[in-house]
Amino acid sequence: MKPEIVLVGPLMPEVMADLDAAFVVHRLYEAVGHEAWLAGIADRVRGLATDGANGCDGSLMDALPGLEIISINGVGFDAVDLPRARDRGIRVTNTPDVLTDDVADMALALALAVSRRICVGDRHVRNGDWEREGPMPLTRKVTGARIGILGLGRVGQAVARRFAGLDCEIGYTDLQPRADLPHRYFGVLTDLAAWSDMLIVCAAGGPGTHNLIGRAELDTLGPEGTLINVARGTVVDEPALVSALSEGRLGAAGLDVFADEPRVPNALLAMDQVVVQPHAASGTRETRLAMGRLVVDNLRAHFDGRPLLTPVA
Ligand code: 8YV
Repeated sequence: MKPEIVLVGPLMPEVMADLDAAFVVHRLYEAVGHEAWLAGIADRVRGLATDGANGCDGSLMDALPGLEIISINGVGFDAVDLPRARDRGIRVTNTPDVLTDDVADMALALALAVSRRICVGDRHVRNGDWEREGPMPLTRKVTGARIGILGLGRVGQAVARRFAGLDCEIGYTDLQPRADLPHRYFGVLTDLAAWSDMLIVCAAGGPGTHNLIGRAELDTLGPEGTLINVARGTVVDEPALVSALSEGRLGAAGLDVFADEPRVPNALLAMDQVVVQPHAASGTRETRLAMGRLVVDNLRAHFDGRPLLTPVA
């Protein structure tokens, strides 16, 4: 008998085919009236596949008394109620490593797009301004800039490698300095912000980093400074970010993540100095396939009684 699992949101067709082959899959995103639907399958469900944004909160966990494993299609586990999962002995897995390069690529892409005003230039050509009015305004240089990284984990280090290739100086802050890495450590975030031309958020989400970047940090980064966020919207105080940008206390921003996705403050959308993306950093076909395969492999390992590949809890 195939184990029964809940799938919170759709994954790539290839991944869903693998899930369907190995499990009886109950699709939450197709269900009408979640409570009654969950009650109807609750005693049979032993696994759950979800994504980084939806995770699995306490009420979904409570609705599934036989739940043994939550497999997240993402590296972040801030949307899963980990203490409750641990209390109940529910295993949790994520998808580290396979998405690191894509997320770091997105940080670099946003940095270049913001500094070189790529979207502004694109519009300038398309709407005829180039022909009518001449060149667009001058932009800012990235090569050689001081790059500050908040969170020098796997993604932060991959970001550092990319900017080192652009002859940038790299500074960072994290819970501990990394003696094995050549970059400059700052114990205090505002000191890093004061030193940086560009501050790149790579830290995990969750209560420990909630609103870590607020008015003081943004003001210190300053009118010539740029904030890039490829981590979680919750790490930045979003209203403070909007007012710093609109009042010119912060220069520019490149944002892949937001506080209340998929809602993005209208004020940000009206700003030429801001480039936005729909939480798409890991969203290449190659990486989403690798992530999805890891989701399936972790579930398979659990139900076959083998060690989990990438356990969080
Ligand atoms: C995904 C993410 O976009 O890895 C994460 O934590 O947020 C992203 O890679 C998300 O999980 C979509 O499935």
